[in-house]
Amino acid sequence: MNEHQDLADEVPSNYVIEGGKPAHGSVRCYGAKNLASKALIASLLTNEKSILTNMPPIGDLDITRRMLTQLGVETIIDGNSSLVVTPSKLDDTSIGMPHSASNRSPILLLSALLARHKRVDVPLLGGCNIGERNIDFHLRAIEAFGGEVFETSVGFTAKRSGRLQGTIFELPYPSVGATETCLFLAVLAEGRSVLRNIAQEPEIAALISMLRSMGAVIYTGPEREITIEGQQELRGTKMEMIGDRIEAASWASLALASGGEVTVKGIRPDDLGNFLSHVEAIGGGVAIEGTEALRFWRRRPLRRAAIETDVWPGFSTDWQQPFMIALSQAGGISVVHETVYEDRLGYLDVLSDRGAEVEVYDTCLGASGGRCRYKSAQFPHSGIVVGPAKLRSCGEIVIPDLRAGLAYVIAAAVAEGTTRISGLHHLHRGYGEVSDKLRGLGVDVEVEV
Ligand code: EPU
Repeated sequence: MNEHQDLADEVPSNYVIEGGKPAHGSVRCYGAKNLASKALIASLLTNEKSILTNMPPIGDLDITRRMLTQLGVETIIDGNSSLVVTPSKLDDTSIGMPHSASNRSPILLLSALLARHKRVDVPLLGGCNIGERNIDFHLRAIEAFGGEVFETSVGFTAKRSGRLQGTIFELPYPSVGATETCLFLAVLAEGRSVLRNIAQEPEIAALISMLRSMGAVIYTGPEREITIEGQQELRGTKMEMIGDRIEAASWASLALASGGEVTVKGIRPDDLGNFLSHVEAIGGGVAIEGTEALRFWRRRPLRRAAIETDVWPGFSTDWQQPFMIALSQAGGISVVHETVYEDRLGYLDVLSDRGAEVEVYDTCLGASGGRCRYKSAQFPHSGIVVGPAKLRSCGEIVIPDLRAGLAYVIAAAVAEGTTRISGLHHLHRGYGEVSDKLRGLGVDVEVEV
């Protein structure tokens, strides 16, 4: 296999979904999107070869692979889903403009490359348009470890003169990406680092395991704190990606929304955490079938819920869009309070266009209103949906971002009639082989190339 081959399939123009039937069957989740690119970047912390397995066939990973290829790093597909990463030929630490605004990886590459090189240039960031998505914590962390960083008209440049220095750094908020930045900086820094208020998502725990297997010395402690003893160098590793808990929750939401029954494989039940209790609480059924499979269905008619997104172990922001489509089929008024991103509810319009009663508010509708970061701002970050709504299809919808994409697919599968969905590049950035998986669950989907 050659390194220029993509993992993901080509993105089609449209899906045409004939809705109205319950989804039935079983589906296997791919490796976690929000770990795979980070694992790829972590493999640059050594000169040695690493083998990453269970890598998902998604656009986001191919985007990051292309950045590495440009640096001179070889990433060869081995078999179906493994990548062999050889960073020994890395001969450039400046990622060029063609990669500008394509995903979140540049900011993580900035610190991972700085850990081993004196100067790094990365382009501007992209990713879903769901809020401001600041990177101030990342930049502050680089400075705290003794690096210099500045924004240019085309991206960011980081430099250091000596070795990075271990430090005590407290994140203002448990950001996933900024925690990864701190890990990449600390594992090769001189001396001890203490990181406080870190993110604890399952993908972070898996990344810490990978770094440990590369020789990093990391002690996790209570209260979102970790201590890292910096090493002179790390070694290559072999690491399997955990299953994608967001993909798993998406298929569970399809089962609940459509009134079907879906077995989701390739996912550790623990990685769905509180999601399982939310399913049970609205009247859904959850059966754990072994160490890596769960079955979801409706135990009784669904009833309303109030969900509030939060950092792990709270209700993940990436679960909320698919789950809200399920709640549109529940009796009563369901509430969502999005506390992680300030602008992630725009997708609800699609429900109101299709016959559901929906309202979005710029005030806090959740219990944690007092500590919501958006309480004094006027962001549209709370919403209600009144159910059960009889969804009807009405022509075409264009996907605005990744998770809204799967929410639209679920809404189309539930609505009576035909829906044409475009903007599939957003969906394919994070979900692999969606149309095949949908067909496997009995959803009537036609692909227009
Ligand atoms: N934030 C700051 N300053 C920073 C960093 C973050 O203010 O320097 C804020 C952000 O603006 C946001 C919040 O903190 O309001 C959380 O951001 P975080 O850094 O945790 O998000 P991220 O690392 O950019 C990852 C996932 C997201 C997921 C979040 C939260 C990847 C590639 N992306 O983003 O996934 O929603 O963590 O769990 O890992 C998705 O998969 O669809 C997706 C958006």
